[in-house]
Formats: sequence, C-alpha cells, structure tokens
Amino acid sequence: MSKKPQTVWVCQECGYESPKWLGRCICGAFGSMVEETVVPDDAQDTRRRVSAGSGETAGGAARPKRLKKVGSAEYARIKTGIRELDRVLGGGLVPGSLTLISGEPGIGKSTLIIQAAAKIAAQEGTVLYVSGEESEEQIKMRADRVCGSLPDSLLVMAETNMENIMAVSESCKPKFLIIDSIQTIYSDTLDSAPGSVSQVRTCGNMLMKIGKSWNVPVFIVAHVTKSGELAGPKTVEHLVDTVLHFSGERDHEVRILRAFKNRFGTTSEIGAFRMEEHGLMEIQDISATFLENTDVSEEGSVITAVYEGSRPVFLEVQALTSRTTAGFPRRTAVGVDQKRLAMILAVLEKKLGLNLSDQDVYVNIVGGLRADRTSVDLGVALAIYSTIRGAAPSRRVVAFGEVGLTGELRSVQNADRIVMEAARLGYQQVILPERSAERIDRSKIPSSCQIAGVKNLYAAAHVFLD
Ligand code: TYD
Ligand code: MG
Repeated sequence: MSKKPQTVWVCQECGYESPKWLGRCICGAFGSMVEETVVPDDAQDTRRRVSAGSGETAGGAARPKRLKKVGSAEYARIKTGIRELDRVLGGGLVPGSLTLISGEPGIGKSTLIIQAAAKIAAQEGTVLYVSGEESEEQIKMRADRVCGSLPDSLLVMAETNMENIMAVSESCKPKFLIIDSIQTIYSDTLDSAPGSVSQVRTCGNMLMKIGKSWNVPVFIVAHVTKSGELAGPKTVEHLVDTVLHFSGERDHEVRILRAFKNRFGTTSEIGAFRMEEHGLMEIQDISATFLENTDVSEEGSVITAVYEGSRPVFLEVQALTSRTTAGFPRRTAVGVDQKRLAMILAVLEKKLGLNLSDQDVYVNIVGGLRADRTSVDLGVALAIYSTIRGAAPSRRVVAFGEVGLTGELRSVQNADRIVMEAARLGYQQVILPERSAERIDRSKIPSSCQIAGVKNLYAAAHVFLD
C-alpha cells in the first residue's frame, strides 16, 4: 500500500524542515525554503532513525558489551596508491567507509578521484566510477591524460538514478565505488530536484547502505561554493565517516587536501598536490613549496611557518601600508583571518607605538594557502612593522609565534621541528617565542642558524630589524 506523500518546506541553506513556509528560516536565511515532497518509505525511515542518533536498530536484539571485551578491529586498509591521499585518510581507505570529498567546481576533485580509481583498480580489482556530470567519453579523455594505461577492472557509468546505481553496484560488486557528484544523483522515491536537501540526504543514506552491506569504501564528490558550504552536502556530513576538502586558488597550481572529520584517522594531516598538464602530482617536500623568492629580503615581506599535520610549511607574508585618502582606513587580508589582523594591528599600535589610524593596511599570504594557525601572527606583525619602518633584515629570517593581547608571544607546538627545517633550508635566524625556544635541543641545530627566543612583540621587532 502506498503511503500518502507529505509536503515539507526545507531550508536550502541549513536543511531545517518546517511543515509550513517561512519567509525567514531559523538559521536567518531569507527566502531559502523550498517545498519538497517526502514519501515516507524505507529509505526515509532509515534516515529518521539514523538522524535520531539511536545507532543500533536491530529490532531489540542489540545488547551492550563490556568495553574492555570488545575486540579492537585493525582495519585492513586499501591503499589508494597516492601517498598524499592515503596520509589524509589515515593510511588508506577503510572498507565499508563513506567519504565525502568536497571542493569548489573545477578544483580537481574528479581528477584526483580518477587517478586513485585507476590505481586501486590495477591493484585490487573492480572499481566503479559513476558520474552524473560527465559522459563516459569525457571521463575517458581525462583518464587517458592523467592515468597512463587504464586497467580492465576500471568501470565507468554515466548515471544519475540512485536505484540504477544500487542495482549495478549489486551486480558488479566493486572494491571501490565513486559517485561524482552527489548533487546530480536522484532517487525515484522523492520528486524533488537532484541536489535538493532531501535528495542528497536520501541518496547519501542509500550509498551508506551499499558501503556497509558489501563492505566497500564509497567516495562521494560534492561541490561547494567559495562563500560557504551548500546545505545538501552539509546534511550528509554527520552520516559519512570522513569529510575531505580539496582547496586551492585557481591561479595557483598547488592544491591542498584536508580532512575535517575522520573516524579512521586524525584531521590534522594535509595532502599537497600540484595541478599539472598530466593531472595532480604529489608534493612530497612541502615545506618550501609556497616560497617563491626567498633569497632577497624586502621590506614588508617576512617568512613565517605553520605546522600542518606532521610537517612544517613555510609561508611568505607580505604587508603594505599606504596613507588613507578618504574615510576610514582599510584593512585588507588575504589568507589571514580579518579579526586576527585587527587584533595584531591593535597590539602594534599599543605596544610598539605605531600610528596606523591614518594608514590603509594590506596583508597577503603568498602562494594561496590559507593560514588559519596562530603561529603566523608574528610574521604578520613583523611584515607590517617592516613596511612602516621601510626596512628589511639583511639576513634570511623566519619568524613565527602567536601574539597575545598584551603583546606577549605564546609558544607554538612542534617549534623544534620548524626550526630544524628552517636550518635545513638555509635560514640564518629563527625568531620565535622564548618558551618555545627553551625547549629546543640546540645540539641538533647547526650553528649557521641562530635561534632567537623572544618574550614579546617589542623584543621580536628589535631583533628583526637590529
Ligand atoms: P576537475 O577534476 O574536473 O575538477 P572538479 O571535479 O573539482 O570540478 O578539474 C578541472 C580543472 O583542472 C580544469 O579546469 C583543468 C584542470 N586540469 C589540469 O590542469 N590538468 C589535468 O590534467 C586535468 C585533468 C585537469
Ligand atoms: Mg568534477
């Protein structure tokens, strides 16, 4: 017996469901409610149960176990053959896991996936790549360019119907299943458009079922816009095991892969790639990747460092100030958090006596990596100081550390590794928080690299331009 369809209004920004139309959603978005018809079938029931967080639903058969008696499963991971991707995943793909890979259109998600798919197919057997965006011929053209020879076991299918995808994956039992992208797939059980919140959620649930019942890893590609996440993919984030984000600037060739959620590994590792003519190339020696011109020191330019996952990465911060001609002074930050920049400017004014009230300030992190770690604070502060003073150090310097509101420098984790790498890259001086400097084993650092531990921003500025 068919059940009566229900109508709900779903916010396309946040996924909130309401029985009636709202001009403004509870998330604050205006005009974002779209009417969607929900047929309460099995897939929907699963969704309700999963989102209710009940977990075990084995009809009363579930029983608690003593935690210490629970066996620890060592996951037999499937290596993707791409080291940077394996690293971010926590050592490879876990069978039965569901991974969402998001990123802006055109950033290289399909390229990364087809490269991994070809490698896994060559090693493990059947891989099914389902594309709702491109024809099989288009996929072939890309694969020819980026994968070299194609294994027999790599299967492709241009399909957007979820029920068909389910039937095909049941018959060909892939070792790895890829859906590119979730926004193009629809299920017959709903009559809302592909990409709508309810379609994405239902298809996400059905893909999870495929993965768990045949113990295959499933990759779901999702497009997100620069301004923020789209509601669709966001609503499946809670049900997937891993959320990866692929990012980079279009005009730079470096692409960074990060995990935002990972049930099978850490979220601190990053994977670095370069988009080249023949696809994505792994960057193994990432530390100096973002530096272009480090031999000359120029005013307003400072090399700083962040520790990403298990590797130090050096970045160039550039700052420029110019007299404000009209209205309020501008503060423009690219690659640095705007609020942190405002705080650093306030500390510079108060503790170093700089007058920035009639100056426009521009700060840019070169190379397209967004530095959301506080260890770049000192680099940002010194770059601004350097441009105001119109002077640059005569030696090659790296400066990093978190700047506190009183101007003190707070210690940074893994400072020893950053210093060691700076010495290896030939830097002559590292300016860092005193607390971090005290913990460094100086016998490991070559004498050509001077370690300058400083207490506060004032001291750092003096060491920097002495
Ligand atoms: P793609 O993987 O299609 O992006 P997404 O799936 O995230 O939308 O990558 C598209 C861009 O990558 C395209 O603008 C061209 C560029 N590209 C290269 O530079 N080299 C290559 O070998 C490939 C396949 C793509
Ligand atoms: Mg694509």
